[in-house]
Amino acid sequence: MMKRCAIIGGTGLTVLDGLEAAGSAQSATPFGFPSAPLSSGKFHGTEVVFLARHGLDHNIPPHRVNYRANIRALFDAGVDRIIAVNAVGGISAGMWPGRVVIPHQLIDYTYGREHTFFDRDLDKVVHVELDPPYDTAMRQAVIDAAAAAQVDVLTQAVYGATQGPRLETAAEIDRMARDGCDLVGMTAMPEAGLAREIGLPYVSICVVVNWAAGRGEGDIHGQIERFLDQGMDSVNMLLQGCLAGL
Ligand code: HPA
Repeated sequence: MMKRCAIIGGTGLTVLDGLEAAGSAQSATPFGFPSAPLSSGKFHGTEVVFLARHGLDHNIPPHRVNYRANIRALFDAGVDRIIAVNAVGGISAGMWPGRVVIPHQLIDYTYGREHTFFDRDLDKVVHVELDPPYDTAMRQAVIDAAAAAQVDVLTQAVYGATQGPRLETAAEIDRMARDGCDLVGMTAMPEAGLAREIGLPYVSICVVVNWAAGRGEGDIHGQIERFLDQGMDSVNMLLQGCLAGL
């Protein structure tokens, strides 16, 4: 089967601009249906498979996303790697709204999500290694593409994945900062863990769309409205550059 890269789009990236979709497949998996039909086609000359994490109507909240069906459907479609796009809040200095960040580490604060393929009816228990959580070669390819396309990116950050869908309190964000988190989002886990379990190299391109609770001025939703589209334009440029190089 032809090698293809998957792109999982998050908030602000439900439709991939520039994708010449040749087909759309509603793919059943043993875990149910993915968030949306998989959309395949050429994106600036490279074959990709695109999946909208929160559904085409953006109506599946982070804790209800069927991460297992999403990753399994992409695997069944024959993709050989995954680029995830995540809208996030900024915690530490430098993580300002509008900025694109390529995280290198993550901490999982989620709970109650179906988070593993190695759950029952196993011949033996399986403990995959999740460190480093993001594929080193893919991270470098994205960072190189950013330099080539002159997209400003931060190349190190710890992503803290919260349960949501509510936003955090200022004290929760302070605690996350003490834990070492630079970014806060709701979707990196279990997605990254499942990609590792199924053997697909995985990288995340994060777009900071607001200052986390207690960190910035002004209301969070206003910031998100202001910075989401602008950030996703940078992501689209970055995707064009790095797909050729991956
Ligand atoms: N917190 C959690 N998830 C988010 C945020 C936030 O501030 N912004 C975007 N996703």
